[in-house]
Amino acid sequence: MQATRIKELLNSDKTGFEVKINGWVRTKRVSKGFSFFEINDGSCLSNIQVVAEEDVPGYREIIEIGTGSSISVKGDLIDSPGKGQKYEIKAKEIVIYGKADPETYPLQKKRHSFEFLRDIAHLRARTNTFGAVFRLRNALSYAIHSFFQERGFVYIHTPIITGNDCEGAGQMFRVTTIDENAKEQVLTEADDFFGKRTALTVSGQLEGELLATALGNVYTFGPTFRAENSNTSRHLSEFWMVEPEMAFARLEDDIKLAEDFLKYIFKYCLDKCMEDMEFFDLRIKKGVIANLEDIVKSDFITVTYTEAVKILENSGEKFEFPVHWGVDLQSEHERYLTENEFKKPVILIDYPKEIKAFYMKNNDDNKTVRAMDVLVPGIGEIIGGSEREDNLDVLMQRMSELGLNPEDYWWYLDIRKFGSVPHAGFGLGFERTVQFVSGMQNIRDVIPFPRTPKSADF
Ligand code: 4AD
Ligand code: MG
Repeated sequence: MQATRIKELLNSDKTGFEVKINGWVRTKRVSKGFSFFEINDGSCLSNIQVVAEEDVPGYREIIEIGTGSSISVKGDLIDSPGKGQKYEIKAKEIVIYGKADPETYPLQKKRHSFEFLRDIAHLRARTNTFGAVFRLRNALSYAIHSFFQERGFVYIHTPIITGNDCEGAGQMFRVTTIDENAKEQVLTEADDFFGKRTALTVSGQLEGELLATALGNVYTFGPTFRAENSNTSRHLSEFWMVEPEMAFARLEDDIKLAEDFLKYIFKYCLDKCMEDMEFFDLRIKKGVIANLEDIVKSDFITVTYTEAVKILENSGEKFEFPVHWGVDLQSEHERYLTENEFKKPVILIDYPKEIKAFYMKNNDDNKTVRAMDVLVPGIGEIIGGSEREDNLDVLMQRMSELGLNPEDYWWYLDIRKFGSVPHAGFGLGFERTVQFVSGMQNIRDVIPFPRTPKSADF
């Protein structure tokens, strides 16, 4: 007999038939002549209650098993006479797959701190919170693909090992096979595996632009890597990014795409993940559901960097980092704008060119570029994007100002030589999105195996 997932059983509209489930024991209560087990199989937040009477074969051994043990239960799905659950399974046969020693099983019934659970990342998905978070990651991934596929964007795969630094920040993890400890050999970059200096990519954008200028609209969704030493609740060294790129598009189209995209994926979570969303609302952050509902219904606001700086200067707020025109905005500034001033998602545009990457399209004022950052309450920047400089001369000029060697980017410059088009795109930080939707405080707690400075376990 095939096992059924618990989610399916709990959604069943009838009872009185034989079922089989597989799962892990969450709790056990032994009474005289019978016992109760709460079983979870990861398909949903809810457990299913199993009632075993003492005539179930092997009953003596069964009542000895502890929390965390894996079992398979065959029995009848019945309406539960007890309070707290609609259905339960009256067991006829229980097979024990693997026992877990109750003395040493790290997940006890009490609530564990997220810090503690990070140290046992191999088991934390068995808790309610992390089960819900990882199901949400799955749902959001699906929604992201649906959004772009419904609009005809082509999913492309850009390299993880690269020779270019897209963001120009130099915070890259080097990839090399040169053994620095090897004696008596002095090897240069030309002797290295790829015959040049390579690193893990910080963004698939530059390659995305190449394909957009052939396929029209494309998107990537993959891991990216940044060796910045930021120990904050919003930075990871390895994170996932979604990067759409549209040909024949300008900043205005980019802004529209970003707003439609965020609303679509938020609505998907409200429509498809209500059980987990209600858990987040109750246990993680009050009001996450109402907040998402509001965002889906209302319009985002677009403000220029220059206007934003004026608002911040006149706010009377004491910021840790003083603000004036030309500075890069810090998280505290971003959050002031989206949380205190506008109380909704804000799209900031037209940043000073000095604080943005080389590829952004110059505005006519020659001081600002056609950049856009989307800021959301509680997080700050969730999306960074721009219209791209499609004029070869202007781009070359900008690269030389920044000391970038055009020869390293010959292929990137080529698409400005052969049928150049206005084009634009953005990058969505996937983990920050999961944080925003779930209300989870720390970015380390929305990815199964976080990589951060001094930490790459599991
Ligand atoms: O603003 P960023 O650096 O933009 C780019 O990489 C562009 N090449 C994207 C594009 O236009 N195609 O990064 C994009 C987003 C940020 O808004 C943020 O949400 C997320 O990626 N992000 C991080 N998330 C977690 N940990 C980090 N260290 C992050 N750095 C950026
Ligand atoms: Mg950015």
